Amino acid sequence: MLFLGQMLGRTGRSVPRVGQLLARTAARPASRAAPTNNRALSTRADAALLTTTWKTYLATGRGCEVLFSALDANNDGRVSLAEVESLVEVVGANDVRVEALEFLSTAASDQELTLDDLRTWLFKATREDDAACSSNADLRTSYEARPDLGSRSKQETEQATHAWNKHTMSQALRRMQYAVRGEVVMKADAMQEAGRDITFTNVGNPHAVGQPPLTFFRQVLALTDLPAEVGVDHPKAGELFPSDAIERAREMQAGLGENLLQSPGTGAYTNSQGVAAFRRDVVDFIEKRDGHAAHAGDIFLSDGASSAISNVLTALIASDSDAVMIPIPQYPIYSALIALGGGRQVGYELDEANGWSIDESKLVRQYEKATAGGLRVRALALINPGNPTGQVLSADAVLAVQTCA
Ligand SMILES: Cc1ncc(COP(=O)(O)O)c(C=O)c1O
Repeated sequence: MLFLGQMLGRTGRSVPRVGQLLARTAARPASRAAPTNNRALSTRADAALLTTTWKTYLATGRGCEVLFSALDANNDGRVSLAEVESLVEVVGANDVRVEALEFLSTAASDQELTLDDLRTWLFKATREDDAACSSNADLRTSYEARPDLGSRSKQETEQATHAWNKHTMSQALRRMQYAVRGEVVMKADAMQEAGRDITFTNVGNPHAVGQPPLTFFRQVLALTDLPAEVGVDHPKAGELFPSDAIERAREMQAGLGENLLQSPGTGAYTNSQGVAAFRRDVVDFIEKRDGHAAHAGDIFLSDGASSAISNVLTALIASDSDAVMIPIPQYPIYSALIALGGGRQVGYELDEANGWSIDESKLVRQYEKATAGGLRVRALALINPGNPTGQVLSADAVLAVQTCA
């Protein structure tokens, strides 16, 4: 560690001692002896590796193993506290949470950390934010207040003893936040429990607030699901269902049974891109709307937007430095799934003064900043019509995005 401090000092970089960094937390014990196996930190390249890996960990929850092996120079499966302090020196204490610094200052100076210990320390050192932690606490309180939601195992509150636990699980999942069901909703749940009359407006959920469903889709679905003899071919079907619903259900059943001796109806496995006849319907729609050729082989149907977004992001995010640009404000599935996939989020703010449209200069600025910072921008998410903003982008705004691409 001493060597690193001297080396970085020579390069002109300001490296505060961990002791100084801890001044705001607790009095630091006598200075630790420099570790004997600290060769790992003896070059600028090593410091650069630590910084990069640290940033990756901050963004994705990945890279603990790389940090560990960079610190564990003699490869004995343990790192000293002084080596962890060296890491703090390199990355800067501002990014490290106080409780993790406190641990370094108060632990016995000869204590060593295993990979699992470092993982625990890293999580403590870089936990996303207090809001996430307090919402976990709120969630726990809310579950405890509602035993009907499912009882919790007593062990969950005790020291983790299982191989799969909060330290060994996907840290990306731990960091993922899906605010649509977040803190405000949990508070609202608690208020409702306490007898307050709450109208939930956090998700576009019209049925939950009393809007009746569109009957046509339900009629078609019901008729498509039913065997023909008790559905579309039933003698009294015309008394119960309008003729356009019956006709559409027949088309759907024919599409489902295409190339088969007998229609399997719903419930059978289909082509993994979706039923070919339905994909051809999508092709017709695109060709009419956009005026250019489309191909059923290029269409992938999904059960809702979330699974399609997940598929696309899974395919796009190939490394820790792959980024996706998303509008701010956004519907939070995008940030959540980027975090889960271990990618980076690059926000571009919408222009409120201009009806929440896209500001091309901001878009370009954010793209250039991300690229200069070593990120590879793989995609840009365009939410149109906007959620939560509700704007419909003008043709010019959409063209601005096309220019950037
Ligand atoms: C912009 C946006 N993306 C994704 C979703 C999620 O869609 P789904 O419920 O179909 O999975 C929504 C839902 O409201 C949304 O508004």
